[in-house]
Amino acid sequence: MRVDGTVRVPGDKSISHRSLMLAALADGASRVRGILRSADVQSTAGVLRALGADIPPLAVDLSVAGRGLRGLRAPVVDLDCGNSGTTTRLMAGVVAGHPIAARFVGDASLSRRPMRRVARPLEVMGAEVRFDAEEGRLPMRVRGGSLSPIRWKSETASAQVKSALLLAGLVGGVEVTVEEPALSRDHTERFLAALGVGVAREGTSVTLTPVGSIPAFDLIVPGDPSSAAFFAALGALATAGSLLISDVCLNESRTGFFRALRAMGGSVQTESGSERLGEPVGTVRVAASSLRGVELDPAEVPSMIDEIPMLACVAARAEGLTTVTGAAELRVKESDRIATVVNNLRRIGAEAEELPDGLRVKGSDSPLRGRVETEGDHRIAMAFGVLGALPGNEIEIDDPQCVSVSYPTFWEDLRQVVTR
Ligand code: S3P
Repeated sequence: MRVDGTVRVPGDKSISHRSLMLAALADGASRVRGILRSADVQSTAGVLRALGADIPPLAVDLSVAGRGLRGLRAPVVDLDCGNSGTTTRLMAGVVAGHPIAARFVGDASLSRRPMRRVARPLEVMGAEVRFDAEEGRLPMRVRGGSLSPIRWKSETASAQVKSALLLAGLVGGVEVTVEEPALSRDHTERFLAALGVGVAREGTSVTLTPVGSIPAFDLIVPGDPSSAAFFAALGALATAGSLLISDVCLNESRTGFFRALRAMGGSVQTESGSERLGEPVGTVRVAASSLRGVELDPAEVPSMIDEIPMLACVAARAEGLTTVTGAAELRVKESDRIATVVNNLRRIGAEAEELPDGLRVKGSDSPLRGRVETEGDHRIAMAFGVLGALPGNEIEIDDPQCVSVSYPTFWEDLRQVVTR
């Protein structure tokens, strides 16, 4: 199978969420071009609207009139976060900084995910958090108000927890320091710093100094490296040809997958060309390669946390063993991604086993055939979709539509670059 051409993947999901939140909190009208129009970002837009923000229907070229730093109002409906952990946790921080109360709800997958990690520090800051059904799970009520400064040591490298606290500090007007065990993606810090907010990093700690207001901004959202990862994998696994993925966010806290693919023998080159609101943007060039297994450095896991399902699928086609450890966080993503990936690899005839905090996969070149049960998890669908595009494999995905969470046009884009 040959791959050819140029792909421009949709806008980065993390930056898209943040652009809506910060535009709503800014003074004046912001312009956001190329926002990701996926179900998760629609959840953030819906939650912001319920809080009184003026968010128009998501369009390629979007103008958002800001309401100012504490301009949101109490919602009269539940805040429906759908499938989106980023919406829930970041908006919990935003709500905590306002003198309002709100109830967060979500779908079945989101309602299984841990929320204490964000509730605890918000409570320490002075917000009230209550769980309606099960402790630490949605539905979650947050009552904000006058907050105190905090120095928080996070147990997990989580950008969602870190960002929730930074946003609570921004809105509440208090200093916040978050220390993480390893650096998680730093889009919130970069975005805020580009808007003139004092954000100081020291090792894996970050401190926000409060400001009176944030200015409106103009942003062209760069392509999502997590979406680009599927095409990088496809290009490396192809038997011939190459792919150019253009206009991708190349923030180092997101590019671990490209480094891992290179460590497996993949021909992958990244090249940064410009910067947008503090984010490096450039191209990824990948060519058909012969791949070998890798023992992934656990320190690299945070920079490719959403790409481990794709890495495991690539490993099924690489020579030898691939081992991932230090990735226990995968158990609390949209599905238990360690179990979902391993079970599905076995279902299609690959050799794989679960580890408590990771997985092990043995590569082969025998045909992979069977039906994948995604558990409604978008990244599982796309990772196995890439395997299914390879010659000799026959892989059926039970719920191909679930890609709408992060990449609604994935299947069309995949078809466009594959020439059999
Ligand atoms: C995200 C942070 C990561 C990531 C998620 C998006 C964000 O989650 O897995 O897809 O935009 O902040 P954690 O913060 O739980 O690591």
